[in-house]
Amino acid sequence: MMTFLVFGDVVGKIGREALKRALPRLKEEFNPDLTIVNAENLAHGKGVTRPIIAELHAAGVDFFTSGNHIFSNQKGPHDVWADPELKDLLIRPANFPEGTAGDGEKTLTLGEKRVLVVNLICQVFMGEPYGSPFVAMESVLKRHAGEKLDAIIVDLHGEATSERIAFGIHFDGRVSSVTGTHTHVPTADARILPKGTAYLTDIGMTGARHSILGVEPEGPISRFVEGEAKAFEIPEAGPVDLNAVAVTVGEDGKAVKIVQIQKIIE
Ligand SMILES: [Fe+2]
Ligand SMILES: [Fe+2]
Repeated sequence: MMTFLVFGDVVGKIGREALKRALPRLKEEFNPDLTIVNAENLAHGKGVTRPIIAELHAAGVDFFTSGNHIFSNQKGPHDVWADPELKDLLIRPANFPEGTAGDGEKTLTLGEKRVLVVNLICQVFMGEPYGSPFVAMESVLKRHAGEKLDAIIVDLHGEATSERIAFGIHFDGRVSSVTGTHTHVPTADARILPKGTAYLTDIGMTGARHSILGVEPEGPISRFVEGEAKAFEIPEAGPVDLNAVAVTVGEDGKAVKIVQIQKIIE
């Protein structure tokens, strides 16, 4: 058995601090073999930086996935990938355009076990013409066919619920877990699909509770009300919504348990 503790988008310093505070107790409770965080909003809400990845890695995060904001801090991911200590800790969606820096999947060795972590981005309402995550997932599986993998963990970064449910059912039984990121809002549909894939449409964020998706309400509201967006600010204090999921995978690579974790960190 292996357990994976997976976080969705962690937003800004307030999200990082809450994560660091909560992690020791969550690790005690779930005893994860691997802790994964979606890194796209770590640096003041947009992108990642090398010091932030180093800081969270030191705090007990083992691996990082990402999404459409991964290049928002232009230096960030490249600095991480240039650092020999950190370069294998961060991936970006596998179906980004060919030639994009970074990797979309990584095989991790955990003691005797080998775990493949895959990051994909959806197509519906994502604003950019990404390639199909379905096609990309098939090529990932083809590339690793014949390898002994003990678990395959997928971070599916998308907006539409339908696209992600379709993905989960389409790959049911062929991957251990499909959990969603990007919307910052948790869905209430954690389940094990009939052929053994743990599934959750969106894990939700770890970020300021009194916010819109982790940012001060004024910015997004001005966009809707005045048609022109004020700068997006990240709250510096106040309670934090922490959302995560713990997935337990059996010896056959199929999920045996999925637990949705929702906490308010004061
Ligand atoms: Fe995000
Ligand atoms: Fe995103």
